Amino acid sequence: MSKVLSLHLQQEVQLRFLCPGDLVEVKKLCADWFPIEYPDSWYDDITSSSRFFSLAATYHSRIIGLIVAEIKPKVKLNKEDADILATCFPPTVQVAYILSLGVVEDFRRNGIASLLLDSLLSHLTTKEFFNCKAVYLHVLESNGDALRFYERRNFRPHSFLPYYYFIQGKSRHGYSYVLYTNGGQPPWSVLYPLIKYLIYSHIWIHCISIPFFIPKSLHPITL
Ligand SMILES: CC(C)(COP(=O)(O)OP(=O)(O)OC[C@H]1O[C@@H](n2cnc3c(N)ncnc32)[C@H](O)[C@@H]1OP(=O)(O)O)[C@@H](O)C(=O)NCCC(=O)NCCS
Repeated sequence: MSKVLSLHLQQEVQLRFLCPGDLVEVKKLCADWFPIEYPDSWYDDITSSSRFFSLAATYHSRIIGLIVAEIKPKVKLNKEDADILATCFPPTVQVAYILSLGVVEDFRRNGIASLLLDSLLSHLTTKEFFNCKAVYLHVLESNGDALRFYERRNFRPHSFLPYYYFIQGKSRHGYSYVLYTNGGQPPWSVLYPLIKYLIYSHIWIHCISIPFFIPKSLHPITL
């Protein structure tokens, strides 16, 4: 899709929160985008529960992209993500987890995912969410499009997650990616720069044909 259409799209695309009536459409989109099957209760939750920030981008009333995030206290982090924030942050601080972000294939590379992510980040940088210190997500090691997107949007790899996914009978590796917000910081240890370097090297080797992946910085980026 050309950048001329991109300009046209920018005027036509609207943002709105998901509602229960979107369930069937959202389920179909997620089945197209992700190799993972989610239970029906998950679709019920993301289209109806106020626990989630579930935002859709629409074009002539059709959903062409969506982002789903959950804002939760640090204590609710899973074991593998528990070290996302420095230990100086109390258990009451919050983190935002991106459960889902996708754009219909014909509409990609037009800034739609960026628009959705920017809306989430604007929401998180309001006074009400000053306590939210990081936005994070998990991504399949082989999902080059998503890795490039998050890198481009200043997310940084946090952990390599070996055998994190089980898809169609096969174990697959993943990464966690983090963007620090509102003064959030990663934990610091003597080994921290080395660990980051090793993760970047792993991504770089995996994506050796993509020069974009040359490590840009070992420092976390904070909004
Ligand atoms: C990843 C995804 C959401 C990106 O959506 P998008 O609307 O195309 O992203 P944007 O247009 O906002 O991209 C912003 C920037 O990210 C980078 N980027 C995004 N997709 C890219 C790709 N396929 N190749 C290289 N860079 C890419 C580019 O720098 C792009 O800016 P540019 O187009 O001006 O060069 C989309 O590819 C998608 O839906 N993939 C399938 C679902 C998925 O894997 N979701 C992520 C799960 S963790």
